[in-house]
Amino acid sequence: MANILTKAAGGVMDWVNERAPAMMPAYRKHMTEYYAPKNFNLWYYFGSLALLVLVNQIVTGIFLTMHFKPSAAEAFSSVEYIMRDVEWGWLIRYMHSTGASMFFIVVYLHMFRGLMYGSYQKPRELVWILGMLIYLVLMAEAFMGYVLPWGQMSFWGAKVIISLFGAIPVIGNGLTEWIMGDFLPGDATLNRFFALHVIALPLVLLLLVVLHLGALHEVGSNNPDGVEIKKGPKGNRWDPNKPADGIPFHPYYTVKDLFGVGFFLIICAFVIFFAPAFGGWFLEHDNFTEANRLVTPEHIKPVWYYTPYYAMLRVIPHKLSGVLVMFSAIAVLFFVPWLDKSPVKSHRYRGWITKVMLGVLAICFLWLGKIGAGPGTDPVETIIGRVLTFLYFAFFITMPLWTKLDKTKPVPQRVTMHD
Ligand code: HEM
Repeated sequence: MANILTKAAGGVMDWVNERAPAMMPAYRKHMTEYYAPKNFNLWYYFGSLALLVLVNQIVTGIFLTMHFKPSAAEAFSSVEYIMRDVEWGWLIRYMHSTGASMFFIVVYLHMFRGLMYGSYQKPRELVWILGMLIYLVLMAEAFMGYVLPWGQMSFWGAKVIISLFGAIPVIGNGLTEWIMGDFLPGDATLNRFFALHVIALPLVLLLLVVLHLGALHEVGSNNPDGVEIKKGPKGNRWDPNKPADGIPFHPYYTVKDLFGVGFFLIICAFVIFFAPAFGGWFLEHDNFTEANRLVTPEHIKPVWYYTPYYAMLRVIPHKLSGVLVMFSAIAVLFFVPWLDKSPVKSHRYRGWITKVMLGVLAICFLWLGKIGAGPGTDPVETIIGRVLTFLYFAFFITMPLWTKLDKTKPVPQRVTMHD
């Protein structure tokens, strides 16, 4: 039986090869003959996990779209219908809503890995820039998705965030009205957000991910040692001309990534089956009530993945300055490849300053996230928020300085295998 199947598969492959001869070489270039450094550690799981979540969002999204009604009159009840009456509808919806938060957890860890190992440094600046574009589109995609169920937080969140454009001098109010298609979020807003969320942004996201991986495969992957394996000795057991420290992505890393996938899916299953709202962090309690323009929720706040930036907006008293600071906090990340002046990539071969600075950045981001998720009424917290915002920007603005000052250790010729 196995013999017959192998023969049939070989026959199909030959048939395709004859008609599309470029397909097999592309598969080899990106899978079996893509030589990735052999010292990848846990931090290298998150790229493939992000891909997995992307696929999950698209597949579950397609099924949700089959039953969702994108109108202000019907959206909320159509989601209730999906939850109660559509067969397995609750599972599809919770896979999608949990997937959104998981996407950001995975992407934040993926980005932090980049910062730790200097993966944005030459020659991978383009990989980083494309990653940042993905991050921007992902934030827009998640924001519009959250508006669709037309709960209280969908409506009020949309109102607060879109109204931020009102702070722009001269064109602000017109721009806000143009985005909403109304004076408040309404039917027109929901319709256009649906179109953007379901087709336009996912297409852009997919394209950017393809470019992101294409750019990475041109230069090859970095690794926890920050050693360029292409510059090291040649010759491994598969190819005498390829890096000695490289192993074929397939089957070695596809199998390793599958282990990560198994572990990750267990965590996702736990959330989906036992805590889909995750205490109000993944789905806010107010969003289980239908949107009502006459009743303002007690605390309007975005979902956790935006709260660090939202905190920055709130602790700054002047609205336009707050908006500028918030957008700058994201924009500054684009410049990291040029702000880092260290001759060494990985933090492993840098001094204590890098480690302290990375720790400070992580603490600032998490703490700001906590502040942004709170009611924002505590004056002490506001002061702390300002200090954390200052430290966040200090990390980037002084980066050229401290990356030069920090003492480096000699980088080995070959990758190391501890961890
Ligand atoms: C949908 C979101 C994303 C997907 C699916 C994705 C996918 C991947 C994959 C599969 C890899 C190779 C495996 C790995 O190194 O983990 C990778 C590498 C990389 N990604 Fe992403 N990525 C995403 C978002 C981002 C973001 C937001 C950034 C940063 C702004 C980023 C920066 C990088 C960098 C610098 C590398 C090279 C890492 C290295 O070689 O050390 N990615 N990405």
